[in-house]
Amino acid sequence: MCGIIGVTGEADAVPLLLGGLHQLEYRGYDSAGVALVADGAIWRARAAGGTDSVAKLGELTAGAPNGHAAAIGHTRWATHGSPTEENAHPHTDCTGRLALIHNGIIENHAELRAELEASGHTLASDTDTEVMAHLIEAQMAGGASLPDATRTVLGRLRGSFSVAVISADEPDTIVAACRLTPLVLGLHDGMTLLASDIPALIGHTRRVFTLADDQLAVLTPGALTVTTLDGEPVEPVERAITWDVEAAQKGGYEDFMSKEIEEQPVAVRDTLLDRRGAGGELILDEMRLGADELRDIDKVFIVACGTSYHAALVAKYAIEHWVKLPTEVDIASEFRYRDPVLNERTLCVGVSQSGETLDTAEAMREAARLGAKVLAVSNVVDSSMARAADGVLYTRAGPEIGVASTKTHLAQILALELLGLYLAQLLGTQPAAAIDGVFDHMERLPDLVADTLRRADDVDDVAAKLTDARDFFFLGRHVGFPVALEGALKLKELAYLRAEGYPAGELKHGPIALIEPGTVVVAIATRNRLWEKMLSNVAEVRSRGATMVLLAEDGDEETAAAADHVLWVPPTDPLLSPVVGVVPLQQLAYRLARLHGHDPDRPRNLAKTVTVE
Ligand code: F6R
Repeated sequence: MCGIIGVTGEADAVPLLLGGLHQLEYRGYDSAGVALVADGAIWRARAAGGTDSVAKLGELTAGAPNGHAAAIGHTRWATHGSPTEENAHPHTDCTGRLALIHNGIIENHAELRAELEASGHTLASDTDTEVMAHLIEAQMAGGASLPDATRTVLGRLRGSFSVAVISADEPDTIVAACRLTPLVLGLHDGMTLLASDIPALIGHTRRVFTLADDQLAVLTPGALTVTTLDGEPVEPVERAITWDVEAAQKGGYEDFMSKEIEEQPVAVRDTLLDRRGAGGELILDEMRLGADELRDIDKVFIVACGTSYHAALVAKYAIEHWVKLPTEVDIASEFRYRDPVLNERTLCVGVSQSGETLDTAEAMREAARLGAKVLAVSNVVDSSMARAADGVLYTRAGPEIGVASTKTHLAQILALELLGLYLAQLLGTQPAAAIDGVFDHMERLPDLVADTLRRADDVDDVAAKLTDARDFFFLGRHVGFPVALEGALKLKELAYLRAEGYPAGELKHGPIALIEPGTVVVAIATRNRLWEKMLSNVAEVRSRGATMVLLAEDGDEETAAAADHVLWVPPTDPLLSPVVGVVPLQQLAYRLARLHGHDPDRPRNLAKTVTVE
């Protein structure tokens, strides 16, 4: 997730761009850059520097030219290519007369890059973005205008983009378009603006328009025209803006947590983008660990903490089922201090949203010391774990600001399951058709998560009936067990309520003694292979007077009959079901936190990144 901004018709463009980039830093800040048209040429400055990128850019642009011509700016959250200055946006073409910024992922960048290189273009970065600048250059060399050239090139792209392009040959014009990532446009008093998000515009205009997928906008000073990618004119949709800047950063949501919960379909989709080659085979290019190294492994060890540990537990079921490799999952702080048995044929995977959690980092270091190959699954590009590991697989959830992990959890499950499928392909433990089948189910998950999110009111109704409850048990079996653990953790940390996550079959070996009228039992009763046994476990606690909240698949009246309250979810492949099933549990914890008057973004005693033991 990156942030983009652009303006044409403003005399003092650079301060406006820098101000906008500060507002967009929550979308990433690995590097930042601006480009503008001045004196018949493109002027560009870029800075790579982590949290200081925009500040460094401020120093670099101190002597920037000004004028009323087109200007664009970008703050980057790296996906393709490390966070260096060469990979910072804006990217230019071979002539340097065109500059372009992009948010999203171009899935077919490798084949387009090969085509460009074969026809003599020299690409200066490792990014997927740069191909667009050179493709537009080629179209313009054939006589096309900037809008027409951009339109033709966008038609060739697979993946997601919001993009803005300027050219020294059309100094007042910015051409912008989007597909699957947001872009907003603004008009004010002779100037026209664009940005990834409303906070970057709100200090300049209240006339804001949203661009829909596969629409292209041409911005000139004080004017805006929108067409489809096929060139059909479209009336841009104006949005009424009543927010101040702080509210706008939360996208109109009450807090970051609810915003991030709503962003989950996009986090899931982005984590899946760009993972299949032309022949449909899975490719995990960024991983750095070669096929030969991985073919050799005979055991997988996953280490993590908290919510990331729960994602790892889901992956254990999937990897053992698909790859038939023994897979151990360990809490990182425990792993470090026992004598884990691993060697050079072990793949140790460290899972961490921040990529900085000390216990997980140290567990990975210990695994490396014992000779294991170490892979980081991290949401933060170039995090210390990503750098220290032999390989890395990134979740692409975008920056997560709420302290409790939500969207990164779903992305972690997906990334680890992708790893499982990839190993199955590599080791030949599943036929290609079976792998395709699972991937097809994965590709439907963004829609299923979106569908689940639309039922938030039903979850709120259930939460309202549970406001007086103080004791909760979350029960699950098979992959439902980690979902239960995650549901309980969310309730503890956000609503400060006592909540135990338990494997349902284990309850009768002790904890059932705690069940009494007033205890709330939330049971994951989706139809995995232990569903019938789960219903027996439900009957055991129900007969002891517990209030039953059952997570059930749409239309499953048999399960609903055993419930006091039902949280309905759409069905999917059982091994993928946690990606959907955890969503209403996040919402339940969120709503109970609010009902008890707690701030979900800042739970007491917690920190987003835990760098102490
Ligand atoms: C809970 C939560 C924590 C983190 C844990 C590990 O909502 O966010 O339990 O999952 O502190 O953090 P990372 O994933 O950054 O290593």
